[in-house]
Amino acid sequence: MLDHLKAIPPDPILGIITAFSKDTNPRKIDLGIGVYRDENGDTPLLRCVVEAEKQLMSCQTTKTYLGPAGVTGFNSAISRLAFGTGSEALAEGRIRTVHTPGGTGALRVAADLVKAANPAGTVWASDPTWPNHLAIFPAAGLAMESYPYFDRVNSSLRFEDMMDALSQRRPGDTVLFHACCHNPCGVSPDENQWVAITDLAAEKGFLPLIDMAYQGFERGLEEDNFAVREFTRKCPEVIVTTSCSKNFAVYRDRAGAISIVAGTQQKADDVESVINALTRKNYSMAPAHAPAVVDIILHSEELSSLWREEVAGMRNRINGLRATLVEKIRESGVPRDFSFLQRQSGMFSFLGLSVEQVQRLREEFSIYTVDSARANIASFNSGNLDYFVAALRTVLTN
Ligand code: LMR
Repeated sequence: MLDHLKAIPPDPILGIITAFSKDTNPRKIDLGIGVYRDENGDTPLLRCVVEAEKQLMSCQTTKTYLGPAGVTGFNSAISRLAFGTGSEALAEGRIRTVHTPGGTGALRVAADLVKAANPAGTVWASDPTWPNHLAIFPAAGLAMESYPYFDRVNSSLRFEDMMDALSQRRPGDTVLFHACCHNPCGVSPDENQWVAITDLAAEKGFLPLIDMAYQGFERGLEEDNFAVREFTRKCPEVIVTTSCSKNFAVYRDRAGAISIVAGTQQKADDVESVINALTRKNYSMAPAHAPAVVDIILHSEELSSLWREEVAGMRNRINGLRATLVEKIRESGVPRDFSFLQRQSGMFSFLGLSVEQVQRLREEFSIYTVDSARANIASFNSGNLDYFVAALRTVLTN
């Protein structure tokens, strides 16, 4: 039977990890997968995580199963982080958070939940969106469509076109948003635009599904949940998927969560029971290690303030790199305006290169991006910026 299966090419983002590791050029640069890197090119453990792991190791006495809700302290802390401590829906007991294997796991549970609630429903995603979104929802049997989002000519938001498309959505539709740090384009609505989008969601009655994979990397931990707070204030039902991969740097430990906002406490309990039934027949229970670590951090004043500092450090470094990159590109005489990089935020931006130019960067310079020319800005450092800018100049001029 397995004879019928044909090999599938590697995922375009994950495939870069392998291709890059095989490249022996000492000047190689990996601008592919979205992981934070420091000035040395490393993705270090956060100090708060190291300390919390020590504490966990000193008091952990068993690894027996937790129930379906998983690490409940993690769930409540993530609820507060995602919705804000002043959330009315939280105070009214209308939010449930369940931990999942990473943000991707949360998205798949969300997809299964939407499918269970409305099997004929369509999920609308921004054009472009994280390529894996386009795989996850159809894998759960849902139809997907896109709404206009990124203006590739001006590297900015197509706000009017987006609003026109969203104004045609109806109850039964699910609309996927990136809470902050849009992956892959780095362009987010500003607060006024989010107010208009969330007003429209309330008026049209579609279900907002908000993917929050980079909380803290755009403007700040509280600022970055602005859209979640607005949707939750205005819409009776909301789904939020959270990832701890980037902001706690626990990537491989797979910590994330799905949160649902329902109209009543009873409905929230009902939906949680559906989530538990869905996860039971999928992976049974999520891995508990990283959620236990996050639980310790978020329930310790000292460790949470250290964590906030460390998140701010990562955010500020990326923003600094954006400014330096724009300046170095300008100085080098690259015949194109890259100042948009500084108006965007988070790990990613599109460099606006053709597939041929992306291939030249890879083949001639060992600089790796995905074919869309999405670049992980966090991969730059003082040792590789000049090399990158010279390579960019070559592929744009020769
Ligand atoms: C990315 O977009 O590079 C990250 O979200 C990692 C991944 O799983 O694709």
